[in-house]
Amino acid sequence: MPGSLPLNAEACWPKDVGIVALEIYFPSQYVDQVELEKFDGVDAGKYTVGLGQAKMGFCSDREDINSLCLTVVQNLMERSNLSYDCIGRLEVGTETIIDKSKSVKTVLMQLFEDSGNTDIEGVDTTNACYGGTAAVFNAINWVESSSWDGRYALVVAGDIAVYATGNARPTGGAGAVAILIGPNAPLIFERGLRGTHMQHAYDFYKPDMMSEYPVVDGKLSIQCYLSALDRCYSVYRNKIRARWQKEGNDSDFTLNDFGFVIFHSPYCKLVQKSLARLLLNDFLSSQNKDMKTELFNGLEAFGDVKLEDTYFDRDVEKAFMKASAELFNQKTKASLLMSNQNGNMYTPSVYGSLASVLAQYSPQQLAGQRIGVFSYGSGFAATLYSLKVTQDATPGSSLDKITSSLCDLESRLDSRTCISPEVFAENMKLREETHHLVNYIPQSSVDGLFEGTWYLVRVDEKHRRTYARRPLPNDGALDAGVGLAHASKTNEHIPSPAKKVPRLPATADPEAAAISNGEH
Ligand code: ACO
Repeated sequence: MPGSLPLNAEACWPKDVGIVALEIYFPSQYVDQVELEKFDGVDAGKYTVGLGQAKMGFCSDREDINSLCLTVVQNLMERSNLSYDCIGRLEVGTETIIDKSKSVKTVLMQLFEDSGNTDIEGVDTTNACYGGTAAVFNAINWVESSSWDGRYALVVAGDIAVYATGNARPTGGAGAVAILIGPNAPLIFERGLRGTHMQHAYDFYKPDMMSEYPVVDGKLSIQCYLSALDRCYSVYRNKIRARWQKEGNDSDFTLNDFGFVIFHSPYCKLVQKSLARLLLNDFLSSQNKDMKTELFNGLEAFGDVKLEDTYFDRDVEKAFMKASAELFNQKTKASLLMSNQNGNMYTPSVYGSLASVLAQYSPQQLAGQRIGVFSYGSGFAATLYSLKVTQDATPGSSLDKITSSLCDLESRLDSRTCISPEVFAENMKLREETHHLVNYIPQSSVDGLFEGTWYLVRVDEKHRRTYARRPLPNDGALDAGVGLAHASKTNEHIPSPAKKVPRLPATADPEAAAISNGEH
């Protein structure tokens, strides 16, 4: 496993703290956006060209926020061959709230039971799509603090992004990421380089506890997103310029100083516009007249525009999209794989963008690059920070390991099942009608779930939830079943004794499992 920890951890300041491993989970089914355009009766191209979306992942009533997070955590632990007692902090970022008190983190603690490790700090963090980044910062801060005990921190960001019928529905999605944080990482958080902007707005929020759907002011949310990007970029640049000046370097920081720039992606087109907006920021703040003429040739007419007047200015947008087209191809396009193929996952979205980059570039191409990361959550909260990729791209290096672990991302996406918009709509209706029901046994089949996926078995009369796991191929063909009408080919998870995989309480007796699943 990458990143060995020092024996006497408290005696030394951890070096190169950052992302050591990253696992991503998305549903095994999606709806095609071309089909959805037809089904919704909108003009052809509105979702695919106008929003830039190809496919949208979605969950049946078999998956909820707990199951998504259980799946991604266990997948990360197994694929990285990590022992559960090497985690000292576990954070969850989510806006998919199914309990106003009990955290998802405490549900995940069931995975740690066999290891006996209960000494794990951290709970859940919520602010729309920003909760994952807030959780990541908590984890980084812990490892860099006097509280650190030498173990890894694990951050989980997960959400089910669903909208009521209407123009926001094609911008849904679902998924989860698990991010292992520690020292000697291949993706290092640059210390002191975070530009944050937080402000009050009702652009997107979820005031109705009985519904999974948000209240959305789409146009306002775009304005908030773009204004936050401007402010964060400005703060970030001031901080890095101040650092450079101390080092005797008087250069301006520009977009060119990022090897890659990745964004929270509500839909791909907004990300392309955001990259163009960073170029607009560079252009407006450029003091150097010669550079302005040379680098921004043809854009002179926009020299006097004010950022706050341009959120929906077509001429500015068009000119800077055109001027930044090549930069977009080089620095951002690859990061949109997950977003284009699976949609907005909310908190994991920007980390899905990171996974997309790691999946498509070689360690040699990534080594030494600075990755700009823009995280936005409605309400609103945003940060632009940067990761520095380690220089060591040798085979077996931590960078080689993290890229190799994600190299199957495209084939995993391609292995999903396409579901018709009619069935997708029925599924959404089912979720609406059964959300928060007690004494509920989910109706959807579990046969199509990816191997290793945790799923909801039942919700009892006290809202306590019971889960089981689709077996992995090497778990053995123990067709125990869980006694549910639609789960004929499914086993409850029976860990292989050799691997001693931690598991949730046995679900053969759902009552017993539900009790140990935590009464409020
Ligand atoms: N062919 C090509 N392009 C088309 C077509 C067509 N047939 N029809 C429309 N378009 C273009 C439009 O011109 C528009 O382009 P533009 O953005 O460059 O102006 C784009 O497709 C979208 O069309 P609109 O009419 O603007 O879309 P609408 O207003 O119906 O919905 C919105 C878009 C607001 C993003 C909606 O999907 C939404 O509310 N989503 C949820 C909120 C959201 O994601 N906000 C972003 C930040 S907050 C967050 O992350 C949740």
